[in-house]
Amino acid sequence: MEILHVSAECYPVAKAGGLGDVVGALPKYQNKAGHIAKVVMPMYRTKFLYNNNWSVDYKGSAYLGNYHFEFTIIKETTNKLGFDLYLVDINGLLDREKIYGYDDDTDRFVAFQIAVVSWLSSWQHQPDIVHCHDHHAGLIPFMLKHCLAFKHLQHIVTIFTIHNAQYQGWMGWDKSVLLPEWDSWKSGQLDWNNTINPLASAVKCAWKVTTVSQSYMNELKHNSNGLEALFEYEKGKCIGILNGIDTEVWDTATDAMIQHHYKPATVTAGKQKNKNILCEQFGLNKEVPLIVFIGRLVGEKAADILPDSITVSLNNLKHQVSFLLLGSGEPHVEWQLGDMNGKYPGYYHIEIGYNETLSHQMYAGADFLLMPSRVEPCGLNQMYAMRYGTVPMVRSTGGLQDTVMDMGETDGFGIRFNNASVSDIHYSVSRALSVYKDDKHMQKMRQHMMQIDHSWEKTVNDYTTLYESVKRQ
Ligand code: ADP
Ligand code: GLC
Repeated sequence: MEILHVSAECYPVAKAGGLGDVVGALPKYQNKAGHIAKVVMPMYRTKFLYNNNWSVDYKGSAYLGNYHFEFTIIKETTNKLGFDLYLVDINGLLDREKIYGYDDDTDRFVAFQIAVVSWLSSWQHQPDIVHCHDHHAGLIPFMLKHCLAFKHLQHIVTIFTIHNAQYQGWMGWDKSVLLPEWDSWKSGQLDWNNTINPLASAVKCAWKVTTVSQSYMNELKHNSNGLEALFEYEKGKCIGILNGIDTEVWDTATDAMIQHHYKPATVTAGKQKNKNILCEQFGLNKEVPLIVFIGRLVGEKAADILPDSITVSLNNLKHQVSFLLLGSGEPHVEWQLGDMNGKYPGYYHIEIGYNETLSHQMYAGADFLLMPSRVEPCGLNQMYAMRYGTVPMVRSTGGLQDTVMDMGETDGFGIRFNNASVSDIHYSVSRALSVYKDDKHMQKMRQHMMQIDHSWEKTVNDYTTLYESVKRQ
């Protein structure tokens, strides 16, 4: 089957979080399984753009409301990522340094989607599947079904994957003028609560909807930032497919970003060597368990309770445990966590910012990874941690619940807790400290986790089955 993925992110071209990881890996493994999978995304000014070779695939023009814009589709020439990669260049709109965070993001992503659909109409043989990811590509199912100029593309199967339903791309109805003309009686397919809601529209218009874990699929019917009734109504077309991880990128035996390679048999010594380097770099005590947090410092990740939780643990378990954090996000959280630097010398440090290399070194060198997320559709961090022999400490929600088994259960290997609260986190830190003292138990859990199969090879089949089921309809 030929599949075109449409996304705002794709690792290593441009990544803000797990969406990038998924879109950078799934198509590669779909190709390995015999499909023809491609990715189209906006052309931002990233390193990847400047360090690679491109050819012009298509030049076109379209309207964003009254604004006539020209766009160019460029293609990476060497199949470097294991799939055809296309970037949409819209001068002045998409070619920025950051992916998101501009006042005109709505216009930018609507223009991106119009360009993608216009380009698609020029294809001689259309793809079997257009697979849209998150709200930045959420208007495409509507456009393909209901916009007059694209009606000839109505037969193309659209799949919509929700990576995070917290962000829905809401825009006022005044923005409707940006969209290509559609059958006016279909306006309801764009609307949710009197706003244009690209995520809701995609749930209504796509042929099938997936999200990135089964538990999150169930949660959406009760907790989805206002869309609960929609998910209940559309449950027949929605399924949960757990993400995989790219086991070629995330491999402790070959990862070029870590200093010491190791395998399950050498995990204890290998991790200690990586931990020593990390601890030296950040002035942390090598002898005590090292707990890390890597991620966006936002409410969903419960980053706002980290300052209090870590303070309580550092005060109660004085000199017995240390914390290393990496992340960026809400300014007040960055400030609070940053302000703690230097207050617990040897036992606490945060690096504010985004640092791919350091994140790999932290997965390799840490003993535990903390994820107290309030919402976690899938979560990749815990899977990377497990593959690197690092014990995950997670709140039982979404994909965390589907991938981590508490060490109290037979063959369990992680620490689970129920609430995103200071007391639950502190209790988990105490549990981490006691199991850390048991070398045999630690080694058993590490070796077990490293051998769990979270590869995409497994998951790709689930997508194939889904695509085939729609094609047969
Ligand atoms: P989300 O997409 O909600 O942020 P995921 O767990 O799915 O959460 O994926 C997060 C991805 O982003 C992981 O690859 C993680 O290592 C990476 N990441 C998050 N924050 C940072 C950071 N500050 N520096 C480097 N990598 C980060
Ligand atoms: C989102 C979710 C995260 C998930 C990722 C990839 O960013 O917050 O839980 O792992 O997408 O699907």
